[in-house]
Amino acid sequence: AENRRESLMIVSGYAAKFFQDSMWETDEGKAIGLSYFKERGFTTETIKKFELGYSPDQWEAFSAQALKEGYQEEFIVESGLSVKRDNGNLYDRYRGRVMFPIHSYTGRVIAFGGRTLKTDKNVPKYVNSPESEIYHKSNVLYGLNFAKKAIRDEDNCYLVEGYADVISVHQAGIENVVASSGTSLTVEQIKLIGRLTKNVTILYDGDAAGIKASLRGLDLILEEGLNVKVVLFPDGHDPDTYVRLLGSSAFKKYIDDNRKDFILYKTDILLKEAGKDPILRAGVIREVVESIAKIPDSIKASVFIKECSRVMQIDERALLTELNKMRQAKM
Ligand code: UTP
Ligand code: MN
Ligand code: MN
Ligand code: MN
Ligand code: MN
Repeated sequence: AENRRESLMIVSGYAAKFFQDSMWETDEGKAIGLSYFKERGFTTETIKKFELGYSPDQWEAFSAQALKEGYQEEFIVESGLSVKRDNGNLYDRYRGRVMFPIHSYTGRVIAFGGRTLKTDKNVPKYVNSPESEIYHKSNVLYGLNFAKKAIRDEDNCYLVEGYADVISVHQAGIENVVASSGTSLTVEQIKLIGRLTKNVTILYDGDAAGIKASLRGLDLILEEGLNVKVVLFPDGHDPDTYVRLLGSSAFKKYIDDNRKDFILYKTDILLKEAGKDPILRAGVIREVVESIAKIPDSIKASVFIKECSRVMQIDERALLTELNKMRQAKM
């Protein structure tokens, strides 16, 4: 099994090199792939660091080359780089896409995300590698190999939604950033972060989907005993577009000025949704206490109850009663 894993990593590493060469050394790659990344504001240094590439817009460019170089069909197919046709021939999964290699904790290529350059709504924006013996997507955080040292040093981990967010934020000098790409945040991913720091700051997209995902994510993070803060971006922006709009120092200032404790964040969002209806507003209090009830450390939970009481101007004892009811219901 170790041999199989090694073979899969070798073919994935080869593919990363193939996609890089296809971008830097062919006219098509330069005109389409490289200029796409440059237009997104990625520097040459960034493009090389993240090993970004381009898959030629052909059916068999990669498959034919990999077979010719002696890579075994079994591993080419299991890695998801090629797909087997009914007639037995292989075709390339990634065609005419810009390629984001996904690395293991130690920095080996284990999977890819390929972004289309088309604006056609019927084409999936990102195609990701399927699960394989080396790629269990719920256990992988995009960018962690580049971020792990900075996460320890800063004692905080920024969590974003996408590949480009990780890269742009990293390029802006904030290196302690990872994404749960291709899946919604999992417990395994939070445990990976938890080995490096107990502090997570969520930077999700400023749209309805991002807000919904942030509320779900913060409960999960609290349940794992980590501290969580959230920064909300203006509607329609994600960290990548916003850092490009503001530049890196104004972006850093925005994060520092808008970083909210999860209670304030959740309260703000839910109260806005509830409007003036008193029954809905009472429901908000319950929901915030529900998040607090997920915190395993009861002393910490009581500190947040105090804050909740202050923010929402509700009697602390009433909140504590509610908290205890919820904790008992969980047992
Ligand atoms: P977004 O739709 O926010 O894309 O999805 P993005 O990262 O901002 O993409 P750009 O900036 O247009 O390039 C966030 C993340 O969700 C995953 C990808 O990991 C993406 O980065 N995703 C999204 C998919 O896996 N497949 C999709 O079709 C879309
Ligand atoms: Mn495994
Ligand atoms: Mn989005
Ligand atoms: Mn984006
Ligand atoms: Mn986005």
